Amino acid sequence: MNFTLRVWRQKDSRDPGGFKEYKAHDVLADMSFLEMLDEVNNELISKNEEPIAFESDCREGICGTCCQMINGEAHGPETGATVCQLFMRSFKDGDTIVIEPWRANAFPILKDLVVDRSAFDQITAAGGFISANVGGAQDANCILVPKSESDTAMDAAACIGCGACVAACPNASAMLFTSAKVQHLSVLPQGQPERDSRVLNMLGQMEAEGFGHCTNIGECAAVCPKDISMDAIAFLNGDLLRAGRRRKKR
Ligand code: SF4
Ligand code: FES
Repeated sequence: MNFTLRVWRQKDSRDPGGFKEYKAHDVLADMSFLEMLDEVNNELISKNEEPIAFESDCREGICGTCCQMINGEAHGPETGATVCQLFMRSFKDGDTIVIEPWRANAFPILKDLVVDRSAFDQITAAGGFISANVGGAQDANCILVPKSESDTAMDAAACIGCGACVAACPNASAMLFTSAKVQHLSVLPQGQPERDSRVLNMLGQMEAEGFGHCTNIGECAAVCPKDISMDAIAFLNGDLLRAGRRRKKR
């Protein structure tokens, strides 16, 4: 298959940037999207041209670095998949494919398709540590956790911090990410001592980083490669209300 790529090129955060057109030739249907970009970059390098900067690490959907907006969809046309899990068979021979970085003030563009997502690290850091002494690995089974709660915690912990939720949200809100991080600890017994401070601090940091507010549009959950649902946001809102009431009583 052959494709025309319209790729966002931007030298650095000060450069205004713009689209540039490239041809991807002889692409196999079973190539991943990133392998197709690797081939385009090999050709650019062979012509002494600057390769397209994009991030990837695991290439199996678990690290969250391969952030690209493909034809206006975060992570492209497949649901429940990251860009590295997207294969060229999802496109038709002759298609024009538009590739952009995440667009959000809190994720400044560093170069081409690479954005700075360290604002997410700040939100996670604001959540802090848990003070419960959980002992060593052999003690893990001594803290009984109901199956439904451990399932909820594990589902929330599946968030890979890719930022697609922010990129897809018209408000550039980080509410789905923040709620996943809040929920995965707050449903567990070990997460109870810091439950109130965690939600207040993480939400405060989310605002400080310049993310928008959540208005329950749902684009975030629609593009999330890990199927984090809007239930996580409802859970966070419940925790926020409870934390606020407890603070007033003190
Ligand atoms: S909630 Fe989903 S879309 Fe958002 S950062 Fe986590 S995995 Fe990515
Ligand atoms: S490269 Fe790790 S999730 Fe895509």
